[in-house]
Amino acid sequence: MAAHVRYESVRTADAEGDEHDTLKTNYADDDSSNDGDDSKFRLDEAPEIQYHLTRRSRALCACHRLSRTCIALCAATAVFVVLVLVSGGYLAYKSGLIDGQSPPWYPSPRGGTLSTWAASYSKAHKLISRMTLVEKVNITTGTGWAMDLCVGVTGEAAHVGFPALCLQDGPLGIRFADHADSFPAGITVGSTWNRELMRKRGEEHGREAKLKGVNVLLGPSMGPLGRNPAGGRNWEGFGSDPVLQAVAAAETIKGIQSQGVQATAKHYIGNEQEHFRKSFEWGLPESLSSNIDDRTLHEIYAWPFAEAVRSGVASVMCSYQMVNNSYACQNSWLLNGVLKDELGFQGYVQSDWLAQRSGVASALAGLDMSMPGDGRFWQDGNSLYGEQLTLAVLNGSVPMDRINDMAKRIVAAWYQVGQDSWESKGPNFSSWTNETVGRLHDAAADSDEMGVVNQYVETSTRNSRDVARRVAQEGAVVLKNEGSLLPLSYGLAELRLGRKAKVIVVGEDAGPGKGPNYCEDRACNQGTLASGWGSGATEFPYLVDPFLALQKSFNTTSVELSRALDNKLSKAVREKIKQQDLCLVFANADAGEGHLAWEGIRADRNDLELQKDGTRLIREVASLCGGPVVVVIHSVGPVIMEEFADLSAVKAILLANLPGQESGNALADVLFGRVDASGRLAYTIGRSLAEYGETTPVLYYPNHIVPQVDFKEGLYIDYRHFDKNNIEPRYEFGFGLSYTDFEYTNLTIEALKVKSSLPAPPPKGLSAPQYQNTPPAPASCLYPEGFRKLKKYIYPWIKDTSQVKQGKYPYPRGYDIARKPSQAGGGEGGNPSLFENHVRVTVDIKNTGSRTGKEVVQLYLSFPENISDPVSGEAVDMPVKVLRNFDKIELDVDESKSVEMFLTRKDLSYWSVVQQNWVMPEDDEFTVAVGRSSRDVRLRGIY
Ligand code: BGC
Repeated sequence: MAAHVRYESVRTADAEGDEHDTLKTNYADDDSSNDGDDSKFRLDEAPEIQYHLTRRSRALCACHRLSRTCIALCAATAVFVVLVLVSGGYLAYKSGLIDGQSPPWYPSPRGGTLSTWAASYSKAHKLISRMTLVEKVNITTGTGWAMDLCVGVTGEAAHVGFPALCLQDGPLGIRFADHADSFPAGITVGSTWNRELMRKRGEEHGREAKLKGVNVLLGPSMGPLGRNPAGGRNWEGFGSDPVLQAVAAAETIKGIQSQGVQATAKHYIGNEQEHFRKSFEWGLPESLSSNIDDRTLHEIYAWPFAEAVRSGVASVMCSYQMVNNSYACQNSWLLNGVLKDELGFQGYVQSDWLAQRSGVASALAGLDMSMPGDGRFWQDGNSLYGEQLTLAVLNGSVPMDRINDMAKRIVAAWYQVGQDSWESKGPNFSSWTNETVGRLHDAAADSDEMGVVNQYVETSTRNSRDVARRVAQEGAVVLKNEGSLLPLSYGLAELRLGRKAKVIVVGEDAGPGKGPNYCEDRACNQGTLASGWGSGATEFPYLVDPFLALQKSFNTTSVELSRALDNKLSKAVREKIKQQDLCLVFANADAGEGHLAWEGIRADRNDLELQKDGTRLIREVASLCGGPVVVVIHSVGPVIMEEFADLSAVKAILLANLPGQESGNALADVLFGRVDASGRLAYTIGRSLAEYGETTPVLYYPNHIVPQVDFKEGLYIDYRHFDKNNIEPRYEFGFGLSYTDFEYTNLTIEALKVKSSLPAPPPKGLSAPQYQNTPPAPASCLYPEGFRKLKKYIYPWIKDTSQVKQGKYPYPRGYDIARKPSQAGGGEGGNPSLFENHVRVTVDIKNTGSRTGKEVVQLYLSFPENISDPVSGEAVDMPVKVLRNFDKIELDVDESKSVEMFLTRKDLSYWSVVQQNWVMPEDDEFTVAVGRSSRDVRLRGIY
């Protein structure tokens, strides 16, 4: 089946005992940059170690097969790099980078302190009171990769009626499932700027998940946010601006959870590139560290997570890499401090798959659930939770209070979305086979238990397909439309030829290729591109390719349509193109997740060029075509268009993003004007990669033993960078043409509250329910008599009471410091006072064109100039403008509507590192700009 990537059987961990030694030596320190496991760094394995479980083949390990020469070259390069690192890098690493800016933050705040979750916590409290310690541990730990039917499955607490939970990807549909929709990807959703559609897609996604028996959807993704324009997984999220990302994430979460399914906000935080996200994928001793300063973290990367929490998200997934040299899944400042205290997160933190790097340290730092439950390697049977967590509680190294809180958060989230009323008996599909009857514990070699694993429950409906189509329509961005070539008319009447018009569709991206599911996890670029690759991809139930839909759209009595669905043009095709009255040429750019690679693209793109020689193809068609040329691009992110955007033959350019299963239909809807062109860019399209800034290319080669990525650009990513440096992009953030025109008048800015520097003091939280906090007798945690263990399956029981060694446990640095709750906290997403409306903005929009259309009204805010922090007196640098609100409206010809948008205290504040709070500049004036894009401001006013 797979063509470009081949798979081999799994490499199991070589030293089973080692991981637990590591655990013991590692737990005392939140700072995990060196866990003493350097011996696992073997250069000869470096380039090819990749783990991945495929559904169809049940092959357990994906090795990117490189040619021998390539391996030799890579090894030589790696040796060179290591020599350089060992000589210089190690010193730098030792001398100052270790502590970063992540001070210890302990103990982990208890859940159950907010009234919005009080009822669920009260129920959870009752249930947990009846659970034994091993049951509590069991529900915090996955059973191991591919041990059960979903990509993640927790243990159950059967005797109190708490089920095993099925966790399944992902952001655009249900991964590895049949009879479910493949919706447009996040980046397409962001490009709609349509809150209602964002919500509806979430609802449909959640509805389908429930029908499949999925408790927890592993999405939406709001990190990566798009700091690196070539980042491999940017497409799973909604765009390179925190507010756009936050709105889309929050709407998606509300949609998913309205169906009774738990959503997961991922990946918390700073997972902006795929290279080195996981150490063993790259043969490194440790993952990279994203070094992010406190203000940037708050104003950019944590902003969408704050909104996710405010929308009630049940779960947050911590990411693979380190943040400020402490792993994101054991960084107490990020999990205990920012997420649970300041943002008031009441749900549970689950690890990304194998992102957990320690046991006790991560538990104390706030990690509530280990996913998929294996230890440091796939299916090693050495969970860092499971039995180890039971032992850690019994020997006092993890307080009972903490395991109680972990379990309680998981149970409360289950109640919070109403899963206690589910009648479903677990998942009705298998991630590992398409057969009806299959193995119940696929990866447990010694289990021969079989059963019906696929019930082929249909979840797709006319409505869900319609939502998928509407998102793809509204997520398509028209970037150029000279002479109003678009919308095309069915019979191409505008060409007035007096004969049949000749139209050709060119490019592999317009056609079906070898079928939409040709490569595992969609990790190859062939045929039309409708999704990126990795865990965020799904099995397409169908994929309407562009040519198919165009064929249906042209009137064949007046149009002669032909195709050349290849990027290489034969002589005959070239001749044919010359005869055409209109040419549509397609090209694309693909990327994905780090466990898979395609043709030298190791998940992150290597550049921002169109792939498969797309730029050359477009230029060739433009030079040959007898008529105007329409360029259609499918892409995971920005692509450089300099070589064709200004060509006189290229009259129209449409960026269709990643449209999902309804690709062709939605594209034809826009091209033919059955709907208005209403997508707007969710990122800036620059004229070169270099334009995005010095610090934002992906780090492709390790620069230290622990690769260090300093987010030196701070707040200045994407349009903020272009604005600050006065760079004229090719197409700016927020840009997109409509088929009609809009007039903006009557901007009003009304102050609803008096400016004041700080939010009101946080409301006092409820006191979290307490339990009896003495660990039970170790004997109560022994394996039940006669219990048959499956190999490598993860269990919570201990083997022998002699494993429990009592002693004084050295709690991490900072554990005994009494923590004052954050002044920025006190509610879901932060201090409720931050979300009070301070300013009401209205603007009248009129459709002055000749057809019904949709406008995205964008509100950008410029802070007063020369702000200084009232406490420190230090100057506070601000971007030229920041997106703070938007609305999308539909207007008939000559129709006007008044659009109302609000600005909250948080919108009007910056994060003061000194005050550790959001601070509103009180004295000078803000400028409110309303317009069609980040550069097309129509009206301005002062607040
Ligand atoms: C990805 C997550 C995903 C998980 C489970 C990881 O590799 O980073 O986004 O949810 O796998 O498939």
